[in-house]
Amino acid sequence: MLTLNVNGKTHGVDAGADTPLLWVLRENLQLTGTKFGCGMALCGACTVHLDGQPVRSCSTPVSAAAGKKITTIEGVGATRTGKAVQAAWAKQDVPQCGYCQSGQIMSACALLADKKAPADADIDAAMSGNLCRCGTYNQIRAAIKDASAALVKGV
Ligand code: FES
Repeated sequence: MLTLNVNGKTHGVDAGADTPLLWVLRENLQLTGTKFGCGMALCGACTVHLDGQPVRSCSTPVSAAAGKKITTIEGVGATRTGKAVQAAWAKQDVPQCGYCQSGQIMSACALLADKKAPADADIDAAMSGNLCRCGTYNQIRAAIKDASAALVKGV
């Protein structure tokens, strides 16, 4: 039995230490907003935060998440940064099929929590591991800039 802190709540989960965090979130805790994409940490669809840092949950053993604060797409809206990012995503109408978007939002939130006003190069570096087969990259960038402006203004 492992104890996990997910979105501010403590859960006891019955899972092997090397089970990918993604499957524990989806199967044990029914937090299905985090998606399985490539299974090899190459596409970013499964991005969650561990102590605020973006990680690929498909290739993170659950044991590495025990004792850390895990945040998923279901919980990130409770933070100021998450609220600003989600509002900007809606305003820019970013998603197409939507599959990659939880991961995109989690990476954007980690970037903006670290740097309220990122330069284009910071956005490139933070988002380059999140692929979108629908090609929403321009809208993602616009939404990150909107969220950044709101955070800088203190909205
Ligand atoms: Fe379809 Fe990104 S919105 S993969």
